[in-house]
Amino acid sequence: MRKVSVGFLGCGNIGCGVWKLLNEFKADILHRSDVEFDVKRILVRDVKKKRDQVVPEELLTTDPAQVTDDPEIEMVLEFMGGETPATQYMLRALEMGKTVVTANKMALALNWHILQAAAEKHGSGLYYEAAVCGAIPIIRTTLDSLMSNRIEEMMGIVNGTTNYILTRMSQEGSDYAEVLSDAQRLGLAEPDPTSDVEGFDAAYKLSILSSLAFHARVPFDVIYRQGITQVSAADIAFGKELGYTLKLLAIAKRSGDVIDARVHPTFIPDDHPLASVNGSFNAIFLHGHACDDMMLFGRGAGSAPTASAVVADMLYAVSRDTPRHPTFRNTNELAEGLTVTDDWHCSFYVRLTASDRPGVLARITACLGDEGISIRNLMQRDAVDGHAQIVLITHDAGECAIRKALAAIASDDVQVESMIRVER
Ligand code: HSE
Repeated sequence: MRKVSVGFLGCGNIGCGVWKLLNEFKADILHRSDVEFDVKRILVRDVKKKRDQVVPEELLTTDPAQVTDDPEIEMVLEFMGGETPATQYMLRALEMGKTVVTANKMALALNWHILQAAAEKHGSGLYYEAAVCGAIPIIRTTLDSLMSNRIEEMMGIVNGTTNYILTRMSQEGSDYAEVLSDAQRLGLAEPDPTSDVEGFDAAYKLSILSSLAFHARVPFDVIYRQGITQVSAADIAFGKELGYTLKLLAIAKRSGDVIDARVHPTFIPDDHPLASVNGSFNAIFLHGHACDDMMLFGRGAGSAPTASAVVADMLYAVSRDTPRHPTFRNTNELAEGLTVTDDWHCSFYVRLTASDRPGVLARITACLGDEGISIRNLMQRDAVDGHAQIVLITHDAGECAIRKALAAIASDDVQVESMIRVER
């Protein structure tokens, strides 16, 4: 039996979940892996704070060095969240030769290159299954199980808060602001929801996932990001009529040496596997040249699901003779030889308010035609006060072309209300 001394950095929701799982599952862990994790020290901000789990007070400390610098501690688990000081503490632990297991997508996405360099230099392990989509084993699946594939595309619902909001907007026909404040009241959205609703959280996760999928670094700052704050009940309702479901998707595609990486509200056909992923669930749909289509579905957040991934990483780490590192050179620059395009191709949903006068529709279609954009579907509602609602879906077109066409369409007669990308 191997005994591994462990230190926690943070003991909030996730830390308590890990504490609970390590205790409840102790006998199974011993039976399956012949290992016993012994939690020696836990860094907290406030020793007296009431916690979900009864953690012995003598383990608590407010001094990070008691975790990162203790020679007896072999493994450091980081649950603090945020970029700093979590990055610095993890860095210290790696420099001290300890294995680090983190659930922190922000610190990893922004400082992966620094952490990995330290891990490699000091022979330490760095594991982060819990940082992307909670319990879903997408990191290990991408790193190991799909090693035999060239992954060409990943599309994921990687943020549970926004999926919960969009699901309720869709089911109830409610407005964004109304559902958000209800979700905040229920504790399902943060008091400051910016990271979730503006797509930052999803973009951090996409940076990590696409780098692993493409075996090439895709830094956070090359990812196009648009959140859900401008999504309207009207667009969701029109989409439904046309057979589409709206999701905040994190999308990464690779064609040869050109990639696109983006987070934005996206319509997908109602029969797409991702369309039925509702509430706070997460899912990643991917396509590999050999495995074809695949989807992983599960809980992307929460105390126990995140703990599931953390403890799995702990067991994976102790089962290895040498640490597992990604295959790519991690400099936080886009991998040499790759380019990121902002001119991706997909269909587009467009909603316009137009004066109900002769020639207006002809001008709209001409502006689209001038950019080589063909209309697949068009719907016009009876005019109210002389203004008609026009909704159209294009055939495949380029992002730059649709932007140019919409700039030309916008006029005294026509207001562009919304443009939403449509993926198949
Ligand atoms: N805030 C995230 C979500 C969970 O709503 O999915 C942690 O990344």
